[in-house]
Amino acid sequence: EQPQILAGKTITITAGPTREPLDPVRFISNHSSGKMGYALAQAALELGAQVNLISGPVTIKAPAGVNLINIESAEQLLNEALNYAPQSDVFIGCAAVADYRAANVADQKMKKQGDELTLTLVKNPDIIAAVAAIKNNRPYTVGFAAETQNVESYAKSKLKNKNLDMICANDVSKSGLGFNSDHNALTLYWHDESVELPATSKTQIAHQVIEQLAKHL
Ligand code: C5P
Repeated sequence: EQPQILAGKTITITAGPTREPLDPVRFISNHSSGKMGYALAQAALELGAQVNLISGPVTIKAPAGVNLINIESAEQLLNEALNYAPQSDVFIGCAAVADYRAANVADQKMKKQGDELTLTLVKNPDIIAAVAAIKNNRPYTVGFAAETQNVESYAKSKLKNKNLDMICANDVSKSGLGFNSDHNALTLYWHDESVELPATSKTQIAHQVIEQLAKHL
């Protein structure tokens, strides 16, 4: 039994990829496994929080005891995020939200045509920025930044531009860490402070992230 440092707190976590439909049988998505978000959900539960886990389609099992909300598209994720965020003390955006979706979703299966097909995509809403902009009952808002270069400067600008309270940055150019891996290394940034979390399992690092954020609540 671990110290219940999050007793009485509600944490909402987004995890996994989104799927952006093209027609009834096709979609655009990414390789997010959901492992980091699910590990955060598990850690938050073990430290006494009530956890809402808003998840895109993944193959891993949700920790027993979370309130699992399944979504597919970024627009569905936005709706659920804005529904749960005002009832939450903390919101952690760990989902790999597709940046774009199809401008038009065909209502019948698209038929094969010429040798080229042009798709028009439109930008998806920035979910964590929308949560951080909530006027009443805004939760403590934590984002992730996966970068392949200039990790510190990109992470700090996301912290500022999205109006987050904390951001967890990882260098995804390092092989065996981050995307789809069981391991991760993170640097946590607040507006006036930072903490390095060296490479370890996602289970371990999730605990460290939750403990660090609990200290700053
Ligand atoms: O801008 P970028 O995608 O790198 O920012 C990453 C952070 O923003 C993550 O916390 C991610 O969950 C969140 N995000 C979001 N909605 C988007 C894009 C990213 O909530 N449309």
